[in-house]
Amino acid sequence: MKLFFILTLLPQIAMALPTKDFQFRESIKTVIKNSTMPDVMPGMVVASPSRSNPDYYYDWVRDTALTYRSLIDLYELKKDRKIKDMIFTWVKAETYRQNQPTFSGLGEPKYFIDGSGYTGGWGRPQNDGPALRALAMVKFARILIDEGNPEYVLKNLYHGIIPADSVIKKDLEYTAHHWRNPSFELWEEEKGMHFYTLLSQHTALQEGAKLARELGDVGAADFYEKESKNIAHYLKNEFVDSRIGILNSKYLVNGGLGYKHANIDVAPLLALNHNSPYQTLFNRNSPEVRRYLDVMVKTFKDLYRVNSDYPNLGVAIGRYPEDRYDGYTTSGEGNPWFLATLALGEHYCFVGRKDLAEKQFNRALFHSDRNGSMSEQLNQHTGTMQGAYQLTWSHSAFMTAMMRCGLAK
Ligand code: NOJ
Ligand code: NOJ
Repeated sequence: MKLFFILTLLPQIAMALPTKDFQFRESIKTVIKNSTMPDVMPGMVVASPSRSNPDYYYDWVRDTALTYRSLIDLYELKKDRKIKDMIFTWVKAETYRQNQPTFSGLGEPKYFIDGSGYTGGWGRPQNDGPALRALAMVKFARILIDEGNPEYVLKNLYHGIIPADSVIKKDLEYTAHHWRNPSFELWEEEKGMHFYTLLSQHTALQEGAKLARELGDVGAADFYEKESKNIAHYLKNEFVDSRIGILNSKYLVNGGLGYKHANIDVAPLLALNHNSPYQTLFNRNSPEVRRYLDVMVKTFKDLYRVNSDYPNLGVAIGRYPEDRYDGYTTSGEGNPWFLATLALGEHYCFVGRKDLAEKQFNRALFHSDRNGSMSEQLNQHTGTMQGAYQLTWSHSAFMTAMMRCGLAK
């Protein structure tokens, strides 16, 4: 009798998911580990510890800005001195790399671990990077000002000298002068005008303008504000569509991949999350955002077998439906990504659907290795993890979702 009970319980025990609190702690540990690799320039972050198949042992400006944004949020929450020291070290590293010669100036997407620009062929420039970095640093500047340390801000983060030589101003100048130029999007595949990049640029300039004004750099503030508004008009005029809601991209100058036709992508959702709470152009309850989310979520729900195999979990979300990047090559099949799946959870918290958010967390935990590890992707048929292991961005996405949902302890 006893044995019978144990046997029937076994599969459930094997299925037991780790708690969100456990994963949150593990994600913080992994983010710190990937941000303090002994052979990497202090302050730089590897996208993943994986050095081959795929080789992600580089620092991407985007991944690092988002990672530090999550560490800055964590610092704001816990006021942990160790995290603050990491942020100071990061500011130094960013200042260093901004002054390195690269193939595409500040739009350079990816750097060697010694802080020099990558020299191989790559989709460049990627102009979301400077905007995301500026937004994270503006947030840090505000925290320091609140703590009564404007001296550090004026010395190391922002001052009005032209040509710009402070880290935030350099990024704002670059963004204000280059947002009209097509660049590669966050997936590094298509050169054109992209919602994700533009909304990030809009927000960075808006928040940067406020900081510049407070610090007395009034002429620059007016200029950043004006360009921020120009981007806003452009986004509203060009990216809202009656059928899809929000379009992902426009004007692909190199013809793009040739197989990406639907204009449906998780990137606009990431844009809403990453520019929250600052941007107010696109409201989560507006018809265009709701339509976009309905279409996007349904597309992935129908596309991946893991969604119908485990229907009680939240929806596993990928990058875009035509994706062929399997984490190793682009001759494969696209898959759900942890960071995309968690982004939907974060969104549900913003619109007060904690029940649905919980399912998204469970989806991510279910496909993790249950010991705190998360790779980039999970196989769309079997649910097994694949692609770069311990992807920094997967973990920072988990951290961010927990904090935005008010669940971080
Ligand atoms: C690696 C990039 O990081 C990824 O986003 C892309 O899909 C593949 N290369 C193919 O271009
Ligand atoms: C591929 C992703 O498409 C891109 O967004 C990311 O920056 C790199 N991998 C590094 O994680």
